[in-house]
Amino acid sequence: MKKIFSVVLVALLAVGLMLVASGCGGGGSSSQQAGGTKTITVKFSHVVAESTPKGQAALKFKELLESKSNGQFKVEVYPSSQLYGDPEEMEALLANNVQLIAPSATKLVGLNPAFQLVDMPFLFKNDQAAYNFYDGEYGQKLMHSLENKGILGLAWWPNGSKHFTNSKRPLKRPADFQGLKFRTQSGGVLDDQFKALGAGSQTIAFGEVYQALQNKTVDGTENTFNNIDTQKYAEVQKYMTVSYHGRIDYVVLTNTKFWNSLTEDQKKLFTECMNEATKYERKLADELNQKSFENLKNSGKMEIYTLTDADREAFVKAMQPVYDKYTDKIGKEYIEAARNSK
Ligand code: LMR
Repeated sequence: MKKIFSVVLVALLAVGLMLVASGCGGGGSSSQQAGGTKTITVKFSHVVAESTPKGQAALKFKELLESKSNGQFKVEVYPSSQLYGDPEEMEALLANNVQLIAPSATKLVGLNPAFQLVDMPFLFKNDQAAYNFYDGEYGQKLMHSLENKGILGLAWWPNGSKHFTNSKRPLKRPADFQGLKFRTQSGGVLDDQFKALGAGSQTIAFGEVYQALQNKTVDGTENTFNNIDTQKYAEVQKYMTVSYHGRIDYVVLTNTKFWNSLTEDQKKLFTECMNEATKYERKLADELNQKSFENLKNSGKMEIYTLTDADREAFVKAMQPVYDKYTDKIGKEYIEAARNSK
């Protein structure tokens, strides 16, 4: 009996050592392939559904990097906050427990307040203007602004414009917001946006929003058509206002510890695959948001109101205090570059 126990124990220890040697459980780990080449494991964590533009582009990146590197890289994608939720994913990136995340720019406010630019009400003319801003001087400067904190921006993955939803009443004019409470992605501009409309706000992690809407912790939220659709908010929100008042766009980030561990050739390949995945994401963002808008309309679950030009003017005016307070904090040059982008 004792002998059998010892044999089992030795076998278990051997398996354990093999797992450690192969880097299992460690982020950015590398393991030896049969032919002697190393496999580098890249963990990509995000909070949205797999069927979203971000979810699909993450899978595209995996497909590209794994095939083009002939197995040198292995990419594990974890959607829907499976591995880390909103507040934890940045800590995980800094600890190199994940090597890629793609948070909404708003969520980087604690690291650089200029990322809140995406929340400035009615700032960008349209999607193309946002893409051109991100690819231009100021968008690139912003993306690279976290390098001294050990975080490297690799790409902008835009999702699209936000719209309001709520469970209480149609929101057609600023006065309709009075006394309601909205979920925000993070504090600052978004809190002040709702304050300007006479509403309250609370920051809630994306993975907990459906429940917060269901149990009425908050009355409403704001998101892209695609997130509203894929998170099934129509089950718990009776009204949607098509407002295009701000954006949800992502910054794909890695950490410098992981990045600096790569050879120049590996960095080049990684960048090439990221650029290709970025093109794919931008095309999908447009397509999937349109498709989701159709789904939301066709489901008949929500009463949908689209702001008229006059309504829009009333919102622009009501939200002016946000510009008064944040133009200097974000940087006048960033706001101007975004406003003038075509
Ligand atoms: C949100 O928190 O509403 C979004 O940033 C989620 C996402 O990643 O699209």
